[in-house]
Amino acid sequence: MTTADIDHPSETFDRLGRKIDPTDSSVAARYVLNDIYCSAWLSHAISALCEHRVPDFVGGEPTAIESIAKKAGLHAPTLYRALRALAANGIFEERGDGFFLHNDVSRLLCADHPYSWSGMARMWGHPSCMSAWMHYRKSLTDGQSGIKHAFGKTLYEHLAQDPATTKAFSDAMISNSAHAAVSISREFPFRNFKRVLDLGGGAGTLLHTILAENEHLEGVIFDLPELESLAKDSIRTADLASRCQFIAGNFLSEVPSGADLYLIKNSLWNWSDDHCIEILRNIRRAIGTTYGARFLLIEYVINSRNKKWTTAYDLQILNMPGGRARTEAEYKMLLLQAGLAVTETDIIEDQTLMLSAPVQ
Ligand SMILES: C[S@@+](CC[C@H](N)C(=O)[O-])C[C@H]1O[C@@H](n2cnc3c(N)ncnc32)[C@H](O)[C@@H]1O
Repeated sequence: MTTADIDHPSETFDRLGRKIDPTDSSVAARYVLNDIYCSAWLSHAISALCEHRVPDFVGGEPTAIESIAKKAGLHAPTLYRALRALAANGIFEERGDGFFLHNDVSRLLCADHPYSWSGMARMWGHPSCMSAWMHYRKSLTDGQSGIKHAFGKTLYEHLAQDPATTKAFSDAMISNSAHAAVSISREFPFRNFKRVLDLGGGAGTLLHTILAENEHLEGVIFDLPELESLAKDSIRTADLASRCQFIAGNFLSEVPSGADLYLIKNSLWNWSDDHCIEILRNIRRAIGTTYGARFLLIEYVINSRNKKWTTAYDLQILNMPGGRARTEAEYKMLLLQAGLAVTETDIIEDQTLMLSAPVQ
């Protein structure tokens, strides 16, 4: 026993080395709350740095803050404070005095990373998203989305009037899907199908990856007319014009027929139960009597593995599209109400895949 133990017999530290008081839990509780608020500020800093393309100006070797600030056109002392705070929290690495380099986390924020997260980072700090959060207290009173309170419109009505914001949100979806698309296209047996229709397929990140991996397949991206030029550009860039087409439409009204695999990824949670049932019934109608046709739902599901972050994303899903995160059982109930029964379930990365067949 040391003299320190005698002076402070009950001294204990939390995982970050901060002194806590075992006789007063409010000290540790304050640290927990404080960390959550700090994360929110760091998240704003990440978004703003990505807007200014700061990660693209940091190298693999230590780079002086003045050089980074000059390339990004920013105020060096203020940029230093941002990078110091992020480095202290595991994003970027600070070497010596005012020199920064990438670590694995910050590298993912570079625009040229194959699985870049820059689009997601920029969306979370986008003025539309932030304006919606300012109305969360009203959402709590009536269950309406923050976007509806902020702009008097649904998310997709709001996006339809603003091509720049549509592009920003599409970039975020590309970030969100880039890595999972590779895993899903390799692990799901697409070889069993001939023509895939991706509902709400956006710019086509998932479908392009599936088609590149499966040369026998044809595909259709089905999305709102606002996505048409972005999706057609990316079909051309991916050199898939002979096997991939874009169809503009509204899955709440009608889903085109002619595929043997209909899929929808990370889109159903944007919608209320009633809207989900409408979308699923339209899919069921499109399947009709096509022999062997299936519906593949790919979604972030609240389960014991994903609970911590899917329950947090559930708040964002209310905030922006006004939807909700669900459990697997809740999705199965919605599917059944549309005449679809789950035949297989799989988990790839953090996505749950539910394959269903028409109920006979
Ligand atoms: C959350 S994003 C998901 C995009 C993509 N599936 C992914 O995983 O990255 C939802 C997509 O649904 C599309 N969408 C929204 N409402 C739609 C509608 N009524 N009909 C068809 N597509 C719609 C959006 O334009 C957007 O591309």
